[in-house]
Amino acid sequence: MEESKAYVASQFLAKTSSGENVNAYTLQGKGGVRMEVNNYGGKITKLFLPDRQGNLKDCILGFNDVEGYEKVDAYLGSLIGRYGNRIAFGKFTLDGKEYKLPTNNEPGGLPCCLHGGIKGWDAKVWKPIPFQEGDTVGIIFTYESADGEEGFPGAVKVKVTYTLTPDNVWRIEYEATTDKPTPINMTQHVYFNFHGEAEGTILDHDLTLFADKMTPTDAGLIPTGEITSVKGTPFDFTTPHKIGERIRENDEQLKNGKGYDHNFVLTEPSKDGAPVKAAELYEETSGRYLEVWTTEPGIQIYSGNYLGPHITGKSGVPYSENGGLAMETQHYPDSPNKPQFPSTIVRPGETYRTVTEYRFGVK
Ligand code: BGC
Repeated sequence: MEESKAYVASQFLAKTSSGENVNAYTLQGKGGVRMEVNNYGGKITKLFLPDRQGNLKDCILGFNDVEGYEKVDAYLGSLIGRYGNRIAFGKFTLDGKEYKLPTNNEPGGLPCCLHGGIKGWDAKVWKPIPFQEGDTVGIIFTYESADGEEGFPGAVKVKVTYTLTPDNVWRIEYEATTDKPTPINMTQHVYFNFHGEAEGTILDHDLTLFADKMTPTDAGLIPTGEITSVKGTPFDFTTPHKIGERIRENDEQLKNGKGYDHNFVLTEPSKDGAPVKAAELYEETSGRYLEVWTTEPGIQIYSGNYLGPHITGKSGVPYSENGGLAMETQHYPDSPNKPQFPSTIVRPGETYRTVTEYRFGVK
């Protein structure tokens, strides 16, 4: 891959509908990968990845402005918080007290709180601090979430660091503290398509998951609470499979999700705070390849089942169903209501800290 000179550049992007300024930042990595991000929800809006011949192409879904993100709730390229994925019926009990959250999603007619509520952290303007240290470039985003925001207890101070390393690794470090016990489960909702943005679907991409179990859901995409083996099911990606190979099989879980929209349980999750490999994604014609490494115990694989021509992205071409793949590292959905799942509760005095890396390359 051809080397570039690393740099960070910034410019005014747009105002939100409520009049807040949003800036766009270019992070040029020494290894050739270039990304563009903004401080409206910490969104990654462009990601240029070389193919085998070194040709760069923007390989993620998104919009050119802020308005698109404000209007379309597909969380394209966004940071997600305070609680990624679903909390059933928008309620949970913590230390004996019940909390009610807004419900903003209703798969199968069952209401839930999705991705932090009606105005989650994806829809907030964050404070941006771009940086460059030698050939390493990045940006720090901070945000202060008020006690009671979207129904959640506790004032939370959150910091997310995006780093683009000289060897084409996009590292995301999440950190948060709270003044009252509260659930926190952050993730990044970028949708990849290694053919290029708005160029067909991800059904021919090869996916490998280092996950031998999953958390099956009900019709509302809420985990039933069981942790089941993927063996012998269309969810077995322990060896590489094309995403589209089994996606239309007659399987209750696939029907619930209209495709893949499930949390996978890593076979050997991180124990010591160092990320472990969770997934690989490969597209054979371009050679574009990705490894996902994380300290989180789970990963939501969402095959873009609700994308479609109702969304027209940054190049003016309408999207297709399955036009992008989200690989969201996380704790399991609905953990605040599932005592048997690893806890997502952060208490005063503790620091929530997780790391995920998207390592790009060609094969
Ligand atoms: C969820 C999907 C949801 C999507 C919204 C994903 O993380 O798992 O069910 O439709 O986010 O874009």
